[in-house]
Amino acid sequence: MKGRVGKALPFPFRAGGNPIQTVHRLEPLRQSIAGLRAGGRSIALVPTMGALHEGHLTLVRAAALAADHVIVSIFVNPTQFGPNEDLDAYPRRIAEDSRLLESEGVALLWAPTVEEVYPSGYATNVSVSGVSDEFCGAARPGHFDGVATVVCKLFNQVQPDVAMFGEKDWQQLAVIRRMARDLDLTRPHADAIVGVPTVREADGLAMSSRNQYLSIEHRAAAVALPQAMRAAVTAIESGAPVKAALDSLVTRLLAAGFGPVDYAGLADAASLEPLDQRPQSRPARLLVAARIGTTRLIDNMSVTPAG
Ligand code: PAF
Repeated sequence: MKGRVGKALPFPFRAGGNPIQTVHRLEPLRQSIAGLRAGGRSIALVPTMGALHEGHLTLVRAAALAADHVIVSIFVNPTQFGPNEDLDAYPRRIAEDSRLLESEGVALLWAPTVEEVYPSGYATNVSVSGVSDEFCGAARPGHFDGVATVVCKLFNQVQPDVAMFGEKDWQQLAVIRRMARDLDLTRPHADAIVGVPTVREADGLAMSSRNQYLSIEHRAAAVALPQAMRAAVTAIESGAPVKAALDSLVTRLLAAGFGPVDYAGLADAASLEPLDQRPQSRPARLLVAARIGTTRLIDNMSVTPAG
């Protein structure tokens, strides 16, 4: 990593106009990384599925503070989508994404093809039990196997010193940290997997590539999600029973026009074990996934321990 993590760079970080390299195949990736590593320089990886927004750019800026070079991957990973999910509709805007990344000073865009990641005969799956079991793991069977597998591969391909993930996908971050610990990864080490706080729109809605699916009416109604969650956090932290706070959160979402609520739960922030009471000493997280129209939104917020 950089000699001094957190070194003050102009914010947002802008590089001196070097063109971004875009690489689609593993062999040129390895050559480019060898060049970037010359002189012992460090690399930060920001894995994404593209359709970049301010939340991603916040990850890129955090990465630029943590390492000499930033590599961003864009890969819409088919194995983390269920059969009836939005794989085909998922927004793909590589040219626009690449321009944005270049203006942020990103050295290299790693945009592998599906065949490069999953060549014919591919047969290996990384599955992280426990932390993957509840919440999005229960609502989207196989999702976290797909995430853990592709992130393990991206880590092996790029071998970054540090990797950044958004806290918006809280359970995903916990799964990736568990995977890195359990598999004794060194590039990156589990401790160098950095969670970056969720970036929100002015009205509080968490930024997400899927927000662009929302109609004007549904976008207006979607603000009920962070509002109802904030109210539930306040209620739980003020001593209200967890079940009552969660029931009232769901009622508020349904009244605002949300359809099925996939889940609304309190969990241990690290193990993702569901909790029916506010913990005394360990940080907890409120996690919600709910549908509005055809769009599934997820969000999470911290709940401080009682003690
Ligand atoms: O959060 C995402 O965009 C994806 O799940 C990730 C981590 C890039 C893996 O495909």
